[in-house]
Amino acid sequence: MKILAINGSPRTTRSTTRRLAQFVLDGAAEAGAETEMIDLCDLRVTPCTACEGCSFNGICVYDDDVPVLVERMKDADAIIFASPVYIDNVSGQMKIFFDRLADAIHYQVLAGKSGCSVATTHTSGGDEVVAYQNHVLNYLAVVSVGGISVATGGESSAVDAREGAAQALGKKLAGAIANGFSDPEQEKEIAGNREFFRDLVEENKDFRTEDYERWVKLGWIG
Ligand SMILES: Cc1cc2nc3c(=O)[nH]c(=O)nc-3n(C[C@H](O)[C@H](O)[C@H](O)COP(=O)(O)O)c2cc1C
Repeated sequence: MKILAINGSPRTTRSTTRRLAQFVLDGAAEAGAETEMIDLCDLRVTPCTACEGCSFNGICVYDDDVPVLVERMKDADAIIFASPVYIDNVSGQMKIFFDRLADAIHYQVLAGKSGCSVATTHTSGGDEVVAYQNHVLNYLAVVSVGGISVATGGESSAVDAREGAAQALGKKLAGAIANGFSDPEQEKEIAGNREFFRDLVEENKDFRTEDYERWVKLGWIG
């Protein structure tokens, strides 16, 4: 049982978001999961330039660290998105990474995994950023078990006060992997997205044969 957390704060070890996400991972580890934290700012993540190169073969024209990270996400059973609130949204680092996931979203390569989201903020926007990151998980056909946000008011110790709640979220995530987790509302959204992407997969079947065959095998086409 592998859980991968991706932290979008540029503050690495000083990051309160990372600290909160680590509590979630600690809870999951207690429940038996193998856990890993990745700081996006340690990686080379080039912004998408909408060249549409990936739509031909799934391979981005930029030879940076994103393809390897996507492989790590494929290898995990669950994914945690963690970001500080920057001007009412995820950090720029996180958003640039999300944009690079367009092909993974279109071809639903992470479908069936579990996830959750983490955010910290000075004052506001934490719940909205958790909701947004969970929405991105749903785009990836990943069902979220929930999320946690903390408004620190500038005191990073505020995160420590939520250690128990964060660990409980991690345990819930591990439980979802072990025993399954159902949320009809998210499943409906994911099914609707898949319906939308089906046309693209069918349209491109001559040059995205492997992806097309995977969709057929999964019963999503035909
Ligand atoms: C560029 C920038 C934008 C921010 N925007 C907001 C904001 O809109 N609302 C807010 O309450 N806090 C805002 N903050 C504060 C951070 O969300 C807060 O300090 C967060 O806990 C930092 O997390 P980190 O230590 O993981 O980087 C902002 C901070 C920065 C650097």
